[in-house]
Amino acid sequence: MCGIVGYIGDGDTVNILLESLRKLEYRGYDSAGMAIIDDKGKARIFKNEGEISELEAIVPEISSHVGIGHTRWATHGRPTTQNAHPHCSGNICVVHNGIIENYQELKSELISEGFVFISDTDTEVLAHLINKYYSDDLGLAVGTALGHVRGSYAIGVLSNEHPDELIAARKDSPLIIGLGKDENFIASDIPAILKYTNRIIYIDNLELISVKQGSVRVFDMEGNPVEKEEHIIEWDLEAAEKAGYPHFMLKEIHEQTRSIHETMTGRLHELEGDVNFGELGLDRNEIRQFQRIEIIACGTSYNAGLLGKYLFEGLAGIHTDVDTGSEFRYSSPVLAPSTLVIAITQSGETADTLAAVREAASYGCRTLAITNVVGSTISRDASHTIYTRAGPEIGVAATKSFTSQLVMLYLLAIHFARARSMMDADRARMLLSELRKIPGHVSRILEDAGTIHECASMFVKAKDYFFIGRNINYPVALEGALKLKEISYIHAEGYAAGELKHGPLALISKDVPVVAIAPQGHTYDKILSNIKEVTARDASVIAIVDCDDYCEIEKFADFVIPIPKTDEMLTPLLSSVVIQLLAYYTALELKCSIDKPRNLAKSVTVE
Ligand code: AGP
Repeated sequence: MCGIVGYIGDGDTVNILLESLRKLEYRGYDSAGMAIIDDKGKARIFKNEGEISELEAIVPEISSHVGIGHTRWATHGRPTTQNAHPHCSGNICVVHNGIIENYQELKSELISEGFVFISDTDTEVLAHLINKYYSDDLGLAVGTALGHVRGSYAIGVLSNEHPDELIAARKDSPLIIGLGKDENFIASDIPAILKYTNRIIYIDNLELISVKQGSVRVFDMEGNPVEKEEHIIEWDLEAAEKAGYPHFMLKEIHEQTRSIHETMTGRLHELEGDVNFGELGLDRNEIRQFQRIEIIACGTSYNAGLLGKYLFEGLAGIHTDVDTGSEFRYSSPVLAPSTLVIAITQSGETADTLAAVREAASYGCRTLAITNVVGSTISRDASHTIYTRAGPEIGVAATKSFTSQLVMLYLLAIHFARARSMMDADRARMLLSELRKIPGHVSRILEDAGTIHECASMFVKAKDYFFIGRNINYPVALEGALKLKEISYIHAEGYAAGELKHGPLALISKDVPVVAIAPQGHTYDKILSNIKEVTARDASVIAIVDCDDYCEIEKFADFVIPIPKTDEMLTPLLSSVVIQLLAYYTALELKCSIDKPRNLAKSVTVE
């Protein structure tokens, strides 16, 4: 996904921009570029298809006090050097995240006025448009140009006629300002500039900023000054680096002992048999009045949402539907103010989820965001927000953010069940105390990761995989298949085990490993039958089971991976760690690009 950085100050501008761009690599990109004003007042543009190291190789040593940089993830036009940002017109250079929806009509207009386009991008329209409206005030020209565009943007703009100023603006695409001592920064993401400053201003929609070496001024689109609050970011950079693991994904899988604990910290109230949810901003009465829950999310967060359905219905007795953001936003949802809409998104920036939430809000529904990123767009769009506190997740494949989302859904479902008198305090106490033990159980799974590595190696030649589960294990089966295909590029399907006989059984053969998520529970006998169905078709079975069942299941499975004993309801928290490790070690054996899988981005901020 595209990333923006900008710097103004007495530092080494080129290296600060390169270093900041490197911190955005985790978002995924296909080209990178920068524009700086050199000390002779000349704009110098460098861009390159490929990695930041390739950009670095073409940037000479230049003394400069101001510059903007960009990592591009192609949306309009191929990932070429020509299409890489910045895009320039006259003296104006622009970097842009987002999509200008009416760029075609603006482009035709600009061409008829004599502007010459050299890229296929929507962004180049912005550069020409700003140039068109420029007389002597860069901020005014940017504001006027933005008045003509439809779509989303976070932009950084500079001109060699204004070497002491950077202009930035945002609508529906994240943007922050970093405050330094005699220097200032712009960025699309906090880790980009955390090395230099932890003093941040979050920019809201339709705000325009003039950034100078010694000042930051924020305006609305009518030019009125806007007061902004400064935030201190407590993450240290160390937390966003690999800490000795070969991949961020493995580090993040291991961090789950801590992240799951963090999600629960201060929220478990075992004495009362309830959850402390002060930050939720919904009292018991309000919770009782909801007649339905609609969960909206994408990808892994959608799989978490699916488990949420089983929890809200099974524990709190409230009808729950789950939809992907991309489907929901173009459906004809039947929503009423008595529907609570829960949006789950790690990044808080997923365009489809954000659009769906706005759609839901237009029906008068309360919207509750479950997100990992403080200050993300969803946290400002939703009427209520709770944070998963999983810490920054760099690997494109979601791991610790997923288990923290699950924990959050357990806590919410227990809280709702208590408020609606669907669960007595004893049952709640028991679940909460079992939840408290989960980080310890995860530790034991991690200690035995070698067994899972062995399993991955055994089936590494497979071209297709199936993951099956029933009831609360079904979302884990979906997540197992998503994880495997995402990072190992092996085709994998997640199925409700009872559905195999309605079609996919035709694909089961000796070359297809089937991962059965089969801990003890009320559907255990059923999945045992499903395991027998596939072994009868010569498939190899990898069974994820309770440690007590090891001996019994060994008779039917080719590989057994035990998980520690916990309450049936909570087993997805443990089996999820197993499927993550299975995907990780398979991708490792296949020498795949684990942290940055092909074609994928961490934060999908376009539709
Ligand atoms: C997960 O491994 C994926 N990379 C992806 O499915 C992700 O969960 C999805 O894009 C949603 O992201 P979000 O949680 O930040 O909204």
